[in-house]
Amino acid sequence: MRRAVQLSRSLPRFLHSGSKLTSSTAASKLQGGGGELTPEEIFAREDKYGAHNYHPLPVALERGEGIYVWDVEGNRYYDFLSAYSAVNQGHCHPKIISALTAQASRLTLTSRAFYNNVLGAYEEYITRLFGYDKVLPMNTGVEAGETACKLARKWAYNVKGVPKNQAKIIFANGNFWGRTMAAISSSTDPSSYEGFGPYMPGFELIPYNDTQALEKALQDPNVAAFMVEPIQGEAGVVVPDAGYLTKVRQLCTKHNVLWIADEVQTGLARTGRRLAVDHENVRPDLVLLGKALSGGVYPVSAVLCDDEIMLTIKPGEHGSTFGGNPVACQVAIAALEVMEEERLAENAETMGQILRSELSKLPKDIVSTVRGKGLLNAIVIKETKDSGTSKILVITTREGVSPSPRQWAPGQTHHGDIIRFAPPLTITEPELRNCIDVINKTVMSF
Ligand SMILES: Cc1ncc(COP(=O)(O)O)c(C=O)c1O
Repeated sequence: MRRAVQLSRSLPRFLHSGSKLTSSTAASKLQGGGGELTPEEIFAREDKYGAHNYHPLPVALERGEGIYVWDVEGNRYYDFLSAYSAVNQGHCHPKIISALTAQASRLTLTSRAFYNNVLGAYEEYITRLFGYDKVLPMNTGVEAGETACKLARKWAYNVKGVPKNQAKIIFANGNFWGRTMAAISSSTDPSSYEGFGPYMPGFELIPYNDTQALEKALQDPNVAAFMVEPIQGEAGVVVPDAGYLTKVRQLCTKHNVLWIADEVQTGLARTGRRLAVDHENVRPDLVLLGKALSGGVYPVSAVLCDDEIMLTIKPGEHGSTFGGNPVACQVAIAALEVMEEERLAENAETMGQILRSELSKLPKDIVSTVRGKGLLNAIVIKETKDSGTSKILVITTREGVSPSPRQWAPGQTHHGDIIRFAPPLTITEPELRNCIDVINKTVMSF
């Protein structure tokens, strides 16, 4: 698989086009990819000039197409991370890129101070597709989460009648919804929250997949909402018991509490359904979407809910300069159309079953657990002195399949035993079987 495709090196990319450096020597130092810099030089440059808030695998990518990415030396990889499930439609999907470029050369940003001729079309399309009255467009997934928390608090005061500033939102242990102050305030992962206090008040935690704990927490009349991922992605693809989401729906209805489903990672066909909640045919009060809402080409996120909730926020009370801009809207329409036209949910369901069934044949003394839904999957590795996630990651990546570690950071041992497999949803069976061969050979080599 390595070096399967040779790249044209004729067009070096400029990473800093706004730089004031003008001499050709200085400019050439700023070039990326294309062979000017070795992977090691690229690692060193990021290390020197960038914040150290990530610890990437040692691969310097420069191109993507469909399920593949290529590094600067021309090695081809199957992308088994899909940018944390943002690239469900495959890298640089032609329909999405064409929507992006067409709109980008016409009108990019108006701000919401004016109407534009695209936003309404997108709003109509997405609300009809998912069956909600309204959408509130934002950019990143975490902004969708922030927006949902604000909507839930407003609804609690204006509709439910919770006394001023007393509203509570319940979250599940192990949740991940981003890195803002609110998101880390509900986190149970010390590497997310430690050293960043003081934290947001009015947030409470209960165990995931525990409906008794939920019922107890919902006794409090000041609870506005329960926000939960239908499958906890960043916690290591933790799949709750069948019936959990149905029970969550029943309990939230019974106690007049909003159910916010964070589908930023699980949504948009990733788990084999359009939304992961569709596995149980239940309807949350608010749905959060992000990541694949643009097919990974642009930050686009959204909150979907009905008028009783959405209309509690009035003009001037919430917004974003870029949220709902014409480029984002065209990109999102195209990304959703690709999901529908290419039947990505169906393919994810079928490919996921093959993947899990093959991975389940691996020796249990190395791979203790295989779990997931659709193409959001993980294996749990029993670490021994000969095997381990780090070795498996390095070898499978070297062989051309690039999976994702859960928390690839030195010194972090929690969840260090989980590897996520989440390729673009356009993967075909022969391609998937190639990847399974690489994974099998890697694990069996221990
Ligand atoms: C479930 C979930 N919600 C929210 C987010 C945050 O999305 P973003 O990184 O676009 O802010 C993530 C990111 O991984 C996520 O997995």
